[in-house]
Amino acid sequence: MNKKRKPYKIGLMLVLLAGLAYFLYWGNNAIEVSRYNYQNAELPENFNGYKIAQVSDLHNKAFGDELIDRIEKQQPDIIVITGDLIDSNRTDLAVAKAFLEEAKIHAPVYFVSGNHEVASGKYDELKRIIDTLGVVNLDNANQLLEKDGQQINLIGVADPLSIFQEEIEKEGSKEAIILSEINEGVEVDPELFSLLLTHRPELIDVYQQGSIDLALAGHAHGGQIRLPFIEGLYAPSQGILPEYTSGLYNSHDTAMIVSRGLGNSLFPLRIFNRPELVIITLETK
Ligand SMILES: [Fe+2]
Repeated sequence: MNKKRKPYKIGLMLVLLAGLAYFLYWGNNAIEVSRYNYQNAELPENFNGYKIAQVSDLHNKAFGDELIDRIEKQQPDIIVITGDLIDSNRTDLAVAKAFLEEAKIHAPVYFVSGNHEVASGKYDELKRIIDTLGVVNLDNANQLLEKDGQQINLIGVADPLSIFQEEIEKEGSKEAIILSEINEGVEVDPELFSLLLTHRPELIDVYQQGSIDLALAGHAHGGQIRLPFIEGLYAPSQGILPEYTSGLYNSHDTAMIVSRGLGNSLFPLRIFNRPELVIITLETK
């Protein structure tokens, strides 16, 4: 080997490594805002232009001011959190609290749990923080949202990891239990447009059976690594080459928007899969 060329090769290698490090840092920290205009003739006309900011799967990641600034810029009517605000492997309630405190300044905040809340062993503590801050916990609950005298029905389901085995044996399946929770919410006023907050995208058929108009979900982290044509590689509860990882899906009259989420859990990297803030604008046809 020509010894004179060695320093150049070392230099080139360092440049490539620095480029790779920057790519990975950028890909895991630079938030992408995804916008959806969701049209449905069932929406009351006063909800035309109603904006929802969906924050999913933060897993205790702190973005500094960047996430809040992005949300503020969108001026949403409501902010919804579709689970895994905390991570069960490194639960940090202070980080979650700081985010909720900032978020609620900009719009009312609605929350449903993910599997990590349930698995953390600290969900009761987080619930107390949520209640104290005036964030609305919609685990198996609903709230009517009002805009200039018209209403839609916002329904939430708790993550199915919270369902006890005895309950599953009694009711037949966890899907049956989730469906009955959804039905209870819908029955408050079946005439209203129903918007569901849930952590799990793989249960879209249950949301369809419950006559949900639009469901917002997360959990899949975009499949963690996204490749052209192949899309997401792996998602919890769906395995390899998962079906529901990002974007808009339909099951008959039910639509579902799946957020790629913002943070990571055990697998620490996102590749071609930037952290995502989802903004949905409702449009009456
Ligand atoms: Fe998650």
